[in-house]
Amino acid sequence: MREDKHTRNLMVLMGIMTLLSVVIAFTAEPEEVAIVYSVSNDEEEKEPFYAADVKDGIHVPTGLKVDTHLEPVLANCLACHSADVIRNTRLDKQGWTSLIHWMQEKQNLWDLGADEKRIVAYLTKNYAPEAQGRRANLALQRDDWYELED
Ligand code: HEC
Repeated sequence: MREDKHTRNLMVLMGIMTLLSVVIAFTAEPEEVAIVYSVSNDEEEKEPFYAADVKDGIHVPTGLKVDTHLEPVLANCLACHSADVIRNTRLDKQGWTSLIHWMQEKQNLWDLGADEKRIVAYLTKNYAPEAQGRRANLALQRDDWYELED
């Protein structure tokens, strides 16, 4: 009888410990659980980021929108300046392409290879000029400008 009680106590203790380890495993910091988040299926895109960094469709560390081909942007576009300059810029496809070429010519931006197309596609989709339907800039419509006198 006495031995049975000991065994039961031991079992209860082990049960508690198991429960504890399960609780610890589930409440661990999300960063420790390395869930890699990737929005592209493309094998060549080797800059995955952590699921814990994504909130409401935004990659929190950079503020950039999570969408296809964000990976090559993270890998190539943050070495010289922050993502702020990207987030504050709105350009169409041609605009983004020539901005990249300007950085390559004047700022030592490296050849992006096949990633250039992906980066431009991401930027054109997510950081395009303001949606249509808004009135055009009034300054462009004015025809009553006058010359300042010297
Ligand atoms: C080798 C360094 C370097 C890299 C890498 C780089 N840039 Fe730049 N970028 C610059 C410099 C320098 C400027 C000019 C900053 C200034 O005028 O103060 C700039 C400016 C910009 C601007 C602001 C343009 C404006 O209107 O003033 C944007 C947007 C931009 N870069 C986007 C990108 C994107 C997208 C990538 C990735 C393809 C990238 N950059 C990678 C060097 C770089």
